[in-house]
Amino acid sequence: MSDLFRRKPISELLEESQGKTGLKKSLGAFDLTMLGIGAIIGTGIFVLTGVAAADLSGPALILSFLLSGLACCFAALCYAEFASMIPVAGSAYTYGYAGLGEIWGWIIGWDLILEYAVGIATVAIGWSGYVVNLLGNIGIHLPKAITVSPFEGGVINIPAMVIIGLIAWLLISGVRNTSGVNGVIVIIKVSVVLLFIVLAVWHVKPANWTPFMPYGFQGVVSGAAVVFFSYIGFDAVSTAAEETRNPQKNMPKGIIYSLLICTALYIAVSAILTGIVKYTAYKTPAGHAAPVAYALDQIGIHWGAALVSVGAICGITSVCLVMMYGQSRIFFAMARDGLIPKVLGSVDPKHQTPALSTTIVATACALTAGFFPISIVSELVSIGTLFAFIIVCAGIIVLRQKRSDLKRSFKVPFYPVTPILGILSCAYLITGLKPVTWLRFIVWFALGLIVYFAYSRRHSLLRLENRQPKTARE
Ligand code: ALA
Repeated sequence: MSDLFRRKPISELLEESQGKTGLKKSLGAFDLTMLGIGAIIGTGIFVLTGVAAADLSGPALILSFLLSGLACCFAALCYAEFASMIPVAGSAYTYGYAGLGEIWGWIIGWDLILEYAVGIATVAIGWSGYVVNLLGNIGIHLPKAITVSPFEGGVINIPAMVIIGLIAWLLISGVRNTSGVNGVIVIIKVSVVLLFIVLAVWHVKPANWTPFMPYGFQGVVSGAAVVFFSYIGFDAVSTAAEETRNPQKNMPKGIIYSLLICTALYIAVSAILTGIVKYTAYKTPAGHAAPVAYALDQIGIHWGAALVSVGAICGITSVCLVMMYGQSRIFFAMARDGLIPKVLGSVDPKHQTPALSTTIVATACALTAGFFPISIVSELVSIGTLFAFIIVCAGIIVLRQKRSDLKRSFKVPFYPVTPILGILSCAYLITGLKPVTWLRFIVWFALGLIVYFAYSRRHSLLRLENRQPKTARE
């Protein structure tokens, strides 16, 4: 039983990261904030706002964004404390393994597959919506059969599958979202969001905000759980820990600044989106698939709609790249620890990239994106990530008790209120998701436990090492 809670020694992790990468520690708080914004702004704000406004929140979309933003702020503070304590790659998986024990590390890792892999599918479906809309505007009308899933009256979503294949190919050939490229994309993304705000704010008609909560407060909570997807990504900042200057100070800043900037932008966009047209307008196919561009079209600013679409397409592409890269890093960390087959962490000698795991992930993601609608997959991502956040918040409490000796240059303020509020608010958001989503998540979770007990527990490197004569360990 005790081996379920064996922990990876933190000193070993720190050594591993230093010995392994030898990467230049060049990133500061500004670069990390840019990295965070690059990973955060994407399908959530450009696409899911339409779904949430039309079917769940109505004009109270702004409340939904505030609710889930608040839950993310609590979780982000906990991430920041972890990142300042264990500044190594692998993100929440590593924190769980080192802080709480192997089984929790495994559960988070398994959960992150849901966040990243299904997240890639969600992002790709969003990308497809904007591409189809943009092509439609220039007179190229792709048939519905090849642009939406069978759930929405189509057969297969080919554009979503194509972008996943393209991103996988880029990653396998060694392309990385380098800090320079990311910087340009962040500027494009933030500019189109600001452009939308500046163009549209003059067309707000307060009458559109009534009734404010057409689906009641429960609708607002469900909307919050769906738009929660738009905040995912700030945790990606922690994956760059090994390349950061003075990570104990800069990591928390990067995580928190990027989240605050995005929250401010989201709140402005959601208020304007529901203010310029009636929320029911987003029930149309274009309103569902590309709401920000659609809204500008409705007020007659077609050039703005086209520009926003191009910006959204660039921005969403970069989120897809970051997510697929993140997934391969998590597989890499799990394979290094022996919890999944070593081959999944193997590196292709020609390009020095994890070609096999990228191909497997891309194939699974492409099939998901091709045949499922965004509403189903985005809810799965939300539930998986919310659950991981709950474990991270709980981990802070456990580690303050068990490892008060560890140096923390950033501490969660108002401890223990903040992590407790983090746990409660994330759990509350989960109640806003559909019961069928809980069921799907439970199945995924059970599958993970089967894999753990059938394979990972027995192949864990820590177990194998512990069988050897005792060496000096923590
Ligand atoms: N937050 C990211 C997005 O909205 C995942 O695309």
